[in-house]
Amino acid sequence: MIAVVLVGGEGTRLRPLTLDEPKPVLPIGGVPFVSLLLDRLAAAGVTKVILSCGYLPDRLRAAVVSAPAGIEVEVVVEDEPLGTAGAIRFAAVGRVDGPFLALNGDVLGDADFGALVAAHHAAGAVASIGLTPVDDPTRFGVVVHDAQGNVERFVEKPPNADGLGPAPWWVNAGAYVLDPSVLDLIPADRMVSIEREIFPELVGRGLICVHSDGYWRDIGTLESFLTANADAVAGRVHTRLGGADAAILVDGSARVDADAVLIAPVLIAAGAVVGAGARVGPDTVIGEGATVGPNATVQGSVLLAGAQVAADAHVERSAIGRNALVGERAHVLDSALGTDQAASAGEHLTGERRPA
Ligand code: GDD
Ligand code: MG
Repeated sequence: MIAVVLVGGEGTRLRPLTLDEPKPVLPIGGVPFVSLLLDRLAAAGVTKVILSCGYLPDRLRAAVVSAPAGIEVEVVVEDEPLGTAGAIRFAAVGRVDGPFLALNGDVLGDADFGALVAAHHAAGAVASIGLTPVDDPTRFGVVVHDAQGNVERFVEKPPNADGLGPAPWWVNAGAYVLDPSVLDLIPADRMVSIEREIFPELVGRGLICVHSDGYWRDIGTLESFLTANADAVAGRVHTRLGGADAAILVDGSARVDADAVLIAPVLIAAGAVVGAGARVGPDTVIGEGATVGPNATVQGSVLLAGAQVAADAHVERSAIGRNALVGERAHVLDSALGTDQAASAGEHLTGERRPA
């Protein structure tokens, strides 16, 4: 089985974290998200992954050099964004010769892709969409369908829930099985959205959907990125991290002062340092080589590799980018600092997103 994974987006909703790293390279529990996705594809029996890149492809290339055994990864780069369908076409033509998986590269989950593939074959479908239930349909592609899974309407990002039936709404989970004939429906050399142009055209022509269970989260906003990290550490999603509700995961090379307090679920990655009197957790990841100074508190947050939180600082529901600095006594709430950015000593930030 071949999988095309869409990773070309700029991750605008995650800026400034994505100013110099594409979204799929951002860490979940200290591991690049794309590596967790490759784990899952390997488990589903996928042998070849085509990464459909546009934005910062070299960072993606570097992140996938150590793919799981049995998976070959090919990186395909668009000169300019082709949209979700255009990108699938560009990546798949000449590389697939049968039904293939196509995935949004920003969804953390643990549902079995094999079940979607099996349903596709059992129905003799042209295209099959995995679905997940949500409470807010406006951020997703809503898939109205009958009891047999035949798609009746596909509505991308409806302005409201009018006419879409009662909650919960079943939406496109960003995982498809496509027959190669779908590629012929996608115009070449222009931007084409599979959600807005191709799926609506396939309604009544072999487009089916399958409810998938298990954990599901699009990591594309700051809030969901933080929640995904917490869920991975807490084991609410099954990953290689082996998380659990009561997890206090401390790498052997991290140094945690005997007078620091760690509150589960929490993960302290390789080479990280936590000083005396610091309180770290719950729902927190301290990335590789990051430091938390004496008496600082970090909760509901993610420190990326090399980030520093100085003494007496407070970080809550925030992401602190690579080698970024939170100065002494600073308070950072609901904010994101990008690579090398800083909050000065004593500064208070709430809901801050610096453009650069
Ligand atoms: N190669 C390439 N080229 N990739 C792209 C492009 C492009 O032009 N545009 C988007 N992508 C990639 C993004 O990197 C991301 O992995 C995926 O396609 C989806 O794009 P998002 O920008 O994250 O879309 P969304 O989250 O607003 O909506 C999509 O995902 C929802 C589920 O999370 C839609 O597919 C919805 O229907 C769906 O419900
Ligand atoms: Mg998304």
